[in-house]
Amino acid sequence: MLRTHTCGELRLHHVHQQITLAGWVQRVRNKGGLIWVDLRDRYGLTQLIFEEGSTDKILLEKAAQLGREFVVQATGRVVERTAKNDKMPTGDIEIKVEELTVLNPAKVPPFIIEDDTDGGDELRMRYRYLDLRRNVIREKLQLRHRMMQETRSYMDKQQFIEVETPVLIKSTPEGARDFVVPSRVNPGEFYALPQSPQTFKQLLMVSGFDRYFQIVKCFRDEDLRADRQPEFTQIDCEMAFVNQEDILNTFEGLVKHLFQSVKGVDLGHVPHLTYADAMKFYGNDKPDLRFDMKFVDLTALAKGAGFVVIDQAEIALGICAKGAGEYTRKQLDELTEWVKRPQIGAKGLIYVRYQQDGILKSSVDKFYSQEQLKAWADAVGAVPGDLILVLSGDEKSTRKQLSELRLKMGEELGLRDRSVFVPLWVVDFPLLEWDEESQRFHAMHHPFTSPKREDIPLLESDPGAVRANAYDLVINGVEVGGGSIRIHDRATQQLMFTHLGFTEEEAQKQFGFLLEAFEFGAPPHGGIAFGFDRLCAIFGGSDSIRDYIAFPKNNSGRDVMIDSPSTLDEAQLAELSIRVALKK
Ligand code: AMO
Repeated sequence: MLRTHTCGELRLHHVHQQITLAGWVQRVRNKGGLIWVDLRDRYGLTQLIFEEGSTDKILLEKAAQLGREFVVQATGRVVERTAKNDKMPTGDIEIKVEELTVLNPAKVPPFIIEDDTDGGDELRMRYRYLDLRRNVIREKLQLRHRMMQETRSYMDKQQFIEVETPVLIKSTPEGARDFVVPSRVNPGEFYALPQSPQTFKQLLMVSGFDRYFQIVKCFRDEDLRADRQPEFTQIDCEMAFVNQEDILNTFEGLVKHLFQSVKGVDLGHVPHLTYADAMKFYGNDKPDLRFDMKFVDLTALAKGAGFVVIDQAEIALGICAKGAGEYTRKQLDELTEWVKRPQIGAKGLIYVRYQQDGILKSSVDKFYSQEQLKAWADAVGAVPGDLILVLSGDEKSTRKQLSELRLKMGEELGLRDRSVFVPLWVVDFPLLEWDEESQRFHAMHHPFTSPKREDIPLLESDPGAVRANAYDLVINGVEVGGGSIRIHDRATQQLMFTHLGFTEEEAQKQFGFLLEAFEFGAPPHGGIAFGFDRLCAIFGGSDSIRDYIAFPKNNSGRDVMIDSPSTLDEAQLAELSIRVALKK
């Protein structure tokens, strides 16, 4: 080994020992006859000292020439520091260097490699390997590693078998576009990268594996956001001979284990909320329950007062922002502008300040009496000191807009504490969802999800009202995982394809293998997949999953470090039988 210790482990009890360290030069402070060097490796920082008089002259000169990020090896004696640094775990000691070897010099790095860096996003991504030297980023990947190990150990103990499924497959329709790979030996034909291993894990149930899991890369060509990457990782799971409750209990167990073992947090009770209630009370199928602020329907109370905006609206919904009654006119104007932005799309915002003196001051005083406003306050549970916010319009948009406003108020009032974790299961999702663009129903989860038995008759009369045996795990307003109990017989699966607008031939062509497998003894089964990157980001207290991925893509799906995607040359394209290539 090129070192006897790491840069994070030396303490007072090592004083007088002869040691060798190796690492990167983080900083050099040169005070003429006295040079300090902070040496860094993945374990920490240790201070090296070179001193005129006691240090050899050549060695002192060598130290003076060290630059940031040089890779060096230093041998010397551990000494007690006179001026100790209690902010550093190794701050009680320093190394009086006797031998110094530059293992590799380094160019001046494009940004400062410390916790606080001067590097912008693009630059850090271009030199991601340097960014990864920073503690703050490395710690995120260490968290990811820990979570991966804990997942594997928990699942193994629960008798789950990790099975790898193929990466070159054909399309599974899960809502996003596929990434495709041309097949050279089958001209004109393409593989697709899996959006998830959905059909394979179901086939493994037919094979009798009974309990399967896989920590697996999935690929989706969709619009990117802070919580979406084109390639991301799932903890993908499937079980046979279980009902929905069994699945929810088993995977609640996994998530609780992760919180306990990785963060020392007891997640506590995980409540169930139906999709219908989530939409009714929070306008959102992934409500952030770190705070209450439920929607209250004020339509009946607010209509008929001659206020045309509300009189013409389908619905008027209110929320109570506790303790925000002191919001100034300026703050309220800002909120109004905020809801009117195209991203939110509200026409305006009605507010009622419940003053400490009991008077209700609103933006609609012209239309409503104190008694009427008091009735609103009672309905939303407001007391003096609170602020009531009301949006109105058509029901669907109003719920969506108020959901955004609720989250914003939660943020402004400091109710979205990143060190608090509030989970819930959202259950009873609709089976189908109407798509305006294609003018047909799509599977809300995926086509393999089973309808609730009692709702099957509605498939003909009112398809949108059919509920599915589908569930999501939501933590702090983030959809962390989703799954369903599957269809496991050919007739029902065929019926489902018909309702999704597949002809029999299309269903056979795309999913003949699965339909056939269902005729060879498919057990009842169901499962779930967790977004592993999202889970890591929540554990780390971050909104963005990017930092939890070693080499992520930017918002246009580019890896700016290796510069991909990139064009192919003509010969390669010809070999792949791709004739038309759009060049930049
Ligand atoms: P679903 O499509 O809901 O279900 O995906 C499961 C979970 O994966 C995460 N996720 C993503 N994370 C990062 N970037 C993305 N682009 C991205 N897309 C999804 C989310 C989501 O909850 N086969 C089914 C699961 C099943 O039915 O068992 C599936 O993939 O956290």
